[in-house]
Amino acid sequence: MTSMQISTTANAAPVDDARLAEILANPGFGVHFTDHMFLVEWTPDAGWHDARIEPYGPLAMDPATAVLHYAQETFEGMKAYRHDDGSVWTFRPEENAARMVRSSQRLAFPELPVAEFVQAVDALVEIDQRWVPDPAGEKSLYLRPFMFASEVFLGVRPAQHVTFMVIASPAGAYFKGGVKPVTLWLTEDYTRAGRGGMGAAKTGGNYASSLVAQQEATAQGCDQVVFLDAQEGKYVEELGGMNLYFVHDDGRIVTPETGTILEGITRASIIELAGKLGHQVEERRFSIDEWRDGVTSGRITEVFACGTAAVVTPVGSLKWDGGEVPAPASTDLTMRVRQALVDVQYGRAEDAFGWMHRIV
Ligand SMILES: Cc1ncc(COP(=O)(O)O)c(C=O)c1O
Repeated sequence: MTSMQISTTANAAPVDDARLAEILANPGFGVHFTDHMFLVEWTPDAGWHDARIEPYGPLAMDPATAVLHYAQETFEGMKAYRHDDGSVWTFRPEENAARMVRSSQRLAFPELPVAEFVQAVDALVEIDQRWVPDPAGEKSLYLRPFMFASEVFLGVRPAQHVTFMVIASPAGAYFKGGVKPVTLWLTEDYTRAGRGGMGAAKTGGNYASSLVAQQEATAQGCDQVVFLDAQEGKYVEELGGMNLYFVHDDGRIVTPETGTILEGITRASIIELAGKLGHQVEERRFSIDEWRDGVTSGRITEVFACGTAAVVTPVGSLKWDGGEVPAPASTDLTMRVRQALVDVQYGRAEDAFGWMHRIV
């Protein structure tokens, strides 16, 4: 298959301009959806087929649909950005596509080729382009590609009918009123990924398992939860929805190695960007003691978290049962990296790495 034939059924009753303006003025996150959605189905005999864009709306689902029982599901999270000249772009979409292939392999799904993933996202963004907000205030159109076991069958096995979809939702700035450090709670009771588990896959189950730990963090007055490795309870993995970076006083920056973490596209981009800014980047195991001691001694000057939603955010204090280390002294590099990424995404800086993909 070179490229998919996509049939389109236009929404006969799209959201009117006045209502759309109201939504885009204050989109929030994940509450409003565009006029259309993309779907394509897979069966062993036909492969991927019946690619289509339809009016956005509920799916009729048999109660025995496999995903509802065994959670065979993968998803992605990415954004479309409007530039000042009105054009619309995504950021490294082929990386999201490649990650979905890796997630699909772990979840025993068929693979949706990278080109078709990108084609599907482009087609939806193009038809719903009026939903991409103006760039002021770091607004964007959040894109949610996802794949699920749509076979009606209660046997535990890889589904013989799979559906891939893309939906889109306008998103406001992650930080209202300026970037603010996130405070972290270190969970010692819960882990998100074990050896041989699904930690590197973007699949709903990982997020379901993080909820109780996030509840604990909230109860402790913290914004987000930090997970440690499952085997030794010693090495820093990541937050519930962001990767971590540790900046040292000699300019080195360290980020936990991959394997059990969700390998962020923001994380990968920062490795390249920080290298260009002259920083040595180390991907390695990083213990919780190294974190606590480094901040206390001042050898760690900044800690930041990164992901599509917030781009980059400074980390404030880290709390655990019985202790706390305060926020590191600085946020200089954090804010420089953040600005550099945001400027590329919104077309305000040269795209030196060729990361941006034009749709409209
Ligand atoms: C668990 C987890 N880690 C890290 C990330 C960051 O990944 P990305 O930079 O691709 O958004 C995400 C998603 O946003 C995530 O859900």
